[in-house]
Parts: sequence; C-alpha cells; structure tokens
Amino acid sequence: MNKKLQDALNKQLNEELYASYLYLSMSAWCQSQGLNGIAHWMQLQSQEEYGHAMRIFNYINDRNGKVILAEIKAPAVDWDSVKNVIKDTCKHEAKVTAAINELMNLAISEKDHASVGFLNWFVTEQVEEEATAGDILDKLELAGNSPGALFMIDRLLGSRPAAPAENE
Ligand code: FEO
Repeated sequence: MNKKLQDALNKQLNEELYASYLYLSMSAWCQSQGLNGIAHWMQLQSQEEYGHAMRIFNYINDRNGKVILAEIKAPAVDWDSVKNVIKDTCKHEAKVTAAINELMNLAISEKDHASVGFLNWFVTEQVEEEATAGDILDKLELAGNSPGALFMIDRLLGSRPAAPAENE
C-alpha cells in the first residue's frame, strides 16, 4: 500500500489507542468521584476506541501494509469536574473528526479507492461520536449544580449496553 497513506493510517491507529487510554483514565477519575455510571460509559467508550484501532490494524494488514505501533502518550489523570471530563471528550472527538477528514483527503488525492471506502465508515462514526458526547454535555449543562440531576445522568449512562465485539 501507498507509504504516505500507510504512515497516516499508523498515526491514526496510535490516536485511536490514545483515545482508548484517555477514556479509560476518565473512567478511573469518574469512579474515584463515585460516578460509577459515567465510569461505566467511559469504559465502554474506551473499548469502542480500541475497536476503532483494531479496524485500522486489520485494514493495514489486509492491504499487505506494515503495522507500526508507536508509543502511546499518557492521558490526563485529573479533572476539576465531570463537566470538564465531557468537555474534553467533545474536544477530543472534534480532533479525531479533523484527523479522519485529513486521512480521507489523502486517500482521495492518492486515488486509493479501497481506503476511501474503508474511511467512509469512520466519517459516519464520527458524526455519532460527536453527537453522543455533545448530548451528554447538554444534559450536564441542564443539570447545573443539582446533585439529583447528576445522579439521574449517572444512572442513565450506567445503563449503556456493551457493544458487540469488532472482529472484522
Ligand atoms: Fe475513534 Fe471516538 O473516535
């Protein structure tokens, strides 16, 4: 596969693993605050990001490319409030969307149709990822400083079902 695209896909693979690590760190922080429902949601989000990384891992291999695993940077470990945790989630997802769009631009300019098709899934997924994080932030804004409302949000996010395993 095209070297430029392979390098960019390996970079994205690393970013997805970082996202998995970041959400796991957020999960730990939420748990330390007694927000076990949000912690559960974050753990599933972390698994989902690992699934995104594996999609890229498998795709590079399927195209006879070389997977190059690089160091994963350490995520933040502390936040001032759960609202800031979700704000960081929104910011991170917007960053991922921009990176996926860049990757797509590269696949198009390199005329790599298989990669365009592969990346389309990520383009659609990012719409959902940004919408979901934004919806949680809206709920937290509405809750304001009400512990009762935060308790309800925590319960709601605690009911997130596990996603099916990604084995494609
Ligand atoms: Fe893999 Fe949340 O984007």
